Amino acid sequence: VVASLVAQAVKIHRLIDEDKRRLLDENTHLRQELRERYDFSNLVGSSGPMRQIYEQVTQVAGTNTTVLIRGESGTGKELIAHAIHYSSLRAKKPFVKVSCAALPESLIESELFGYEKGAFTGAEARKKGRFELSDGGTLFLDEIGDVNLATQVKLLRVLQQREFERVGGTETVKANVRLVAATNKDLERAIAAGTFREDLYYRLNVFTMFVPPLRERKADLLLLVDHFLEKFAQEHHRNIRRISTPAIDMLASYHWPGNVRELENTLERAVLMCDGQVIHGHHLPPSLQTAEASGTVTRVSLKDAVSAYEKDLIQDTLKTTRGNCAKAARLLDTTERIVNYKVRRYGIDAARFKS
Ligand SMILES: Nc1ncnc2c1ncn2[C@@H]1O[C@H](COP(=O)(O)OP(=O)(O)O)[C@@H](O)[C@H]1O
Ligand SMILES: [Mg+2]
Repeated sequence: VVASLVAQAVKIHRLIDEDKRRLLDENTHLRQELRERYDFSNLVGSSGPMRQIYEQVTQVAGTNTTVLIRGESGTGKELIAHAIHYSSLRAKKPFVKVSCAALPESLIESELFGYEKGAFTGAEARKKGRFELSDGGTLFLDEIGDVNLATQVKLLRVLQQREFERVGGTETVKANVRLVAATNKDLERAIAAGTFREDLYYRLNVFTMFVPPLRERKADLLLLVDHFLEKFAQEHHRNIRRISTPAIDMLASYHWPGNVRELENTLERAVLMCDGQVIHGHHLPPSLQTAEASGTVTRVSLKDAVSAYEKDLIQDTLKTTRGNCAKAARLLDTTERIVNYKVRRYGIDAARFKS
């Protein structure tokens, strides 16, 4: 009996050990995954400007230099800030973001620097600010062009002396943070208008990265489309195979004022709208179709639009069936004769899909 009890105890111990090891493995794996999510590999794009950005991220990764990322909204500034942090020596320390534009003026100081107990009504205990929370890591000041002049003075002091005081406090706190700031504002114009301090500008403008708008790097568009289609098809459990050529043309001729963010939203919507395996032009939002109204594409009649769609659909199906008209007819729920007729009428080269 004793022997069997001992054996059982040993067994339980082994099970617990195994459990522990499994949990540790899982933890390492999850951490790895988290790191990968923000790794460089998350930045999609192979255009000249994007390659330059990868190079710049590598350049600053090993330093503590303040980085200023400039570009229109939705171009990927925040993703680049992540890439800088997670490829730097500070990767294991926190990455803390402050959305300067979203914070009311009255709150931004206590958010950044924290406060002491009793600093104002409601301050019942000392609270750490984002500077202290990002100690050893990276502080990302998003929309830096939107902070008011009073806060700009305080930021300037941290940048110059690397220290600050909590609101309502006298103790000086050292700040060991790497600053990354981003803006879509024309800072030079803001300086001229007197809404942005020139001295702060020089402190921030040490290493500046410019992210061009999506319309200026069409080479990235196709890669991003593939990336997002795959992501959203998986996320929404859709079996999307590809996107039709006319739909690609629509995406490529649009000017993307909201940049990658707008493309991302557009493709998520398209995936949700799509009831088959191919994304077509009519799965794209009206704003893309009205690029036509604005003169990029000439207006078409309903008849022409239907014909164009029909031609597109038949071509797509023939691609799937490798040029086999009989199979295509079955997929399209029609007869082979009709498919053959349309193929001739639209001048589709079915042999092209045979390879
Ligand atoms: N190069 C890129 N590769 C993959 N996704 C991107 C890229 N650029 C932007 N995105 C995606 O587009 C959206 C907007 O990017 P974000 O970094 O928030 O832009 P910004 O800060 O410039 O407004 C995010 O969902 C981001 O993941
Ligand atoms: Mg942003």
